[in-house]
Amino acid sequence: MLPANQRSLIPPSLLPSPSRQRFAPAPAANTAHGERVYTRDGRGLWLREIEPTDVAALRRCFTRLSPEEIRRRFLHAMSELPAPMAHRLCNIDSTRETAYVLVDESVSPAEIRGVGRIYVDIATNNAEFSVLVEHDWSRIGLGALLMHRLVDDCRHRGLTEIWGYVLQENRPMLELCRELGFTQRAMPGEPGTALLSLQL
Ligand SMILES: CC(C)(COP(=O)(O)OP(=O)(O)OC[C@H]1O[C@@H](n2cnc3c(N)ncnc32)[C@H](O)[C@@H]1OP(=O)(O)O)[C@@H](O)C(=O)NCCC(=O)NCCS
Repeated sequence: MLPANQRSLIPPSLLPSPSRQRFAPAPAANTAHGERVYTRDGRGLWLREIEPTDVAALRRCFTRLSPEEIRRRFLHAMSELPAPMAHRLCNIDSTRETAYVLVDESVSPAEIRGVGRIYVDIATNNAEFSVLVEHDWSRIGLGALLMHRLVDDCRHRGLTEIWGYVLQENRPMLELCRELGFTQRAMPGEPGTALLSLQL
C-alpha cells in the first residue's frame, strides 16, 4: 500500500478499485502537453492524443518491445515498424479513430511509453481497440488507464460496443479486460484468439 501522500498524486482511475468505479473520468489537468497522469509508483507522464510529429517516438517505442509484445499487439510478428505504417498510425482520422499516447518528458527526446487506440465501425456503431504499454512501464496501471479512456471515448461517441482480438495466451490482457467487465468468446476458425467485448 502506498503512503497517503503518494496516493493523493494518483488519479482515481489508477487506484485499485472495483471495475465499475475505475471507469470514472479522471480529473482534468490539461496543458499544451496534455493531461498529467501518474503511475501507481508515482512516475508522471503526459496523456494526450497522438500527433503527426510522434512518428519518430513511436518507431523508437517499437524498438523497445519484445517479439512477444509485438505479436500480442499486432497479432503477428514484425521486426520493425515501417515508416509508412508509423505515419499512418500517427495521422488519424478523428471521425473514426482515437489514439492516446502516454509521453515521458523526463527524458530527451521525449518517449512514448504507451498507446491506446480505437477504430470506429460506423456501420455497426462499435469500435475495435488496441493497447500497448512498454515493458519497463507495465504493471503500474497504465494499460488500465488507457482502456478506461478508450471506453470513455466510445461512450462519448455514442457507440454500443468496444471489442478487440486478444491471443488466448495473453494472460495480462485477458486479466485486464476481465477486471474491466469485458466478456470473452472464442473465435470460430481462429484457434488461439479470443474476442473480448464490452457493451456500453
Ligand atoms: C496487456 C498490457 C496492455 C497491460 O498493460 P499494463 O500497463 O501492464 O496493465 P496495468 O498495470 O494497468 O494492469 C491492469 C491489470 O491487468 C492485469 N495484468 C496486467 N499485467 C499482468 C500480468 N503480467 N499478469 C497477470 N495480470 C496482469 C492485472 O489484473 C492488472 O491489475 P493489477 O495490477 O491491479 O493486478 C501490456 O502488458 C502490453 O502492452 N502487452 C503487450 C501488448 C498487448 O498484449 N496488447 C493487448 C492486445 S491489443
